[in-house]
Amino acid sequence: MKKIFIASDHGGFNLKTSILKFLNKNYDIKDLGPKQNKKSVDYPDFAHKLCKQVAKNKKHVGILVCGSGVGMSIAANKNKGIRAALCYSVKNAKLSRLHNDANVITLGERLIKKTVALKCVENFLKTEFEGGRHIKRIKKI
Ligand code: RB5
Repeated sequence: MKKIFIASDHGGFNLKTSILKFLNKNYDIKDLGPKQNKKSVDYPDFAHKLCKQVAKNKKHVGILVCGSGVGMSIAANKNKGIRAALCYSVKNAKLSRLHNDANVITLGERLIKKTVALKCVENFLKTEFEGGRHIKRIKKI
């Protein structure tokens, strides 16, 4: 069964909280921290923690939030089996699933409107990989 994991750093904590509120009604989602944003934390620690879980099952997906989304995507993509996509629009969230079979979405709380971010997450979760000509490309990554 598909599991959804979410994590952030201090810069992405508020958006992570909003995403949890938004998804909790319809999805089984596990928050991997941090529990509060009173102190600074290092985004790679949370990216690696989440990717370790996502990489365990092909159906698992992850959501990572930091200030810009960039640090989380760089760190996440160092993990074997992870295809993390930094998303900033509904179209790019959909394409990351359709063409790239992305299993992690990263978002930048300081650079994206909350409403757009929630739509990105929603579309990321409901869009299936298209397969076909994209399979051989994924295998080359
Ligand atoms: C934290 O200040 C910030 O650098 C981090 O959230 C992220 O944007 C890094 O890419």
